[in-house]
Amino acid sequence: MKITIVGTGHVGLVTGAYLAEIGHEVTCYDIDSDKIELIKRGKIPFFEPGLLELVNNNIENDRLSFTNNILEALTYSEIIYITVGTPMGLNGKVNLHYLYDAADQIAKNITQKVIIIIKSTVPIGTNRIIKERIEAVSKFEIEMVSNPEFLREGSAIHDTFFADRIVIGSESKKAAKLVEEINKPLGIPIFKTDLQSAELIKYSSNAFLATKISFINEIAELCESLGANIEDVAHGMGLDSRIGPHFLRAGIGYGGSCFPKDVSALIHTATEHGAELKILKAVNLVNQKQQDVLVEKAMHRFGSLNNRKAAILGLSFKPNTDDIRESPALRMVSVLLEEGVNITAFDPVSIENAKKQFGDNINYSSSIEDALLNAEMAFIVTDWDDIKNFPLSQYEKLMKTPILFDGRNCYSLEEVSRFSIEYFSIGR
Ligand SMILES: NC(=O)c1ccc[n+]([C@@H]2O[C@H](COP(=O)([O-])OP(=O)(O)OC[C@H]3O[C@@H](n4cnc5c(N)ncnc54)[C@H](O)[C@@H]3O)[C@@H](O)[C@H]2O)c1
Repeated sequence: MKITIVGTGHVGLVTGAYLAEIGHEVTCYDIDSDKIELIKRGKIPFFEPGLLELVNNNIENDRLSFTNNILEALTYSEIIYITVGTPMGLNGKVNLHYLYDAADQIAKNITQKVIIIIKSTVPIGTNRIIKERIEAVSKFEIEMVSNPEFLREGSAIHDTFFADRIVIGSESKKAAKLVEEINKPLGIPIFKTDLQSAELIKYSSNAFLATKISFINEIAELCESLGANIEDVAHGMGLDSRIGPHFLRAGIGYGGSCFPKDVSALIHTATEHGAELKILKAVNLVNQKQQDVLVEKAMHRFGSLNNRKAAILGLSFKPNTDDIRESPALRMVSVLLEEGVNITAFDPVSIENAKKQFGDNINYSSSIEDALLNAEMAFIVTDWDDIKNFPLSQYEKLMKTPILFDGRNCYSLEEVSRFSIEYFSIGR
């Protein structure tokens, strides 16, 4: 089938590439002409394992093309995926500015009836609003499908081809069936429902995962007071099939472009409808507090941090991505700078993004060794393989004082006990 993607970011590019890979003819459109030119030159605008190869293979096979010309993009097909960003606005409300702009462009430029599939995460009721907005301008018939995206950055390709389910929400049986047909080659279970339920499934799923993280982080704090070990506690809990082992790793809290904004958005939606989501409000608060835990441990250890030299290991919100949006590292670096700390940060791929945020206020290093050299303390923020597997002997050797604050529990306590390292971790 011929398909158009509107918004060629993390989700849009992966969507375009997987749809081409399973045999469709796809054109990806974006308002950012630099991004489109970059992809046409055989590069991709962000780091995502396996995506570059998938994109370039499908360009070569003539199934995937890119344009920043809206008319060219829209005359191409009757099936339009919207994958533009829906960032957090004021007071946790979703900023729908990009989505409305995309809808207005579609309304003005379509030349036939279309099926619009919204993959962006949008507040409950938005699909209906978009349909009305487009129909107010265009004379063509519009059918809407909510098809929320569940991929994780860093494992987006795997998550797409081996997803647990595809959710399809629509008021039109015909449109829902078509989206089912489009995705059939993936062989992934499909769950069909109405528009609002599909929209809410996305928010509730992310909110539930965030809840698991904040829950285990709160129990980790209790472990520290009680002398229990959070890893054993989480393992013992996860053995119960009703609970499961996933998302029970204590750390310095969740970040990224989805969990923080989706939790806030759901709280906001509920408030607008006269309901209060008390659990999610607590999830948010616990997460904000959790992002300060390592710095608090450092302050407790040193008294004053002023003029001390610190290494930050990892800036992205999780491994295998260069995305630093809402990364716990951002908050940590800002607080440490306020405390007068001299920071050198290492990350395998996120340095350029961090430079846009912190400029010359911190130093950047392309190796863990350089970041640690003569540091008085080190903070592990992101558990990249390079960081997780970094030999403990090197902390001893390179640092002025080997004091390690590990926000991802990368090392076992038994292993650390063999070195002269002062080691602080989470919930152990
Ligand atoms: N990133 C993730 O891991 C992830 C996972 C699941 C769901 N989502 C959701 O998917 C949506 C997209 O997220 P993302 O991370 O891909 O965002 P992104 O910022 O990486 O990409 C959005 C793209 O849309 C483009 N754009 C903005 N306005 C446009 C317009 N009017 N016409 C055409 N293009 C336009 C931007 O230039 C950008 O390239 C969001 O709603 C997000 O919550 C993201």
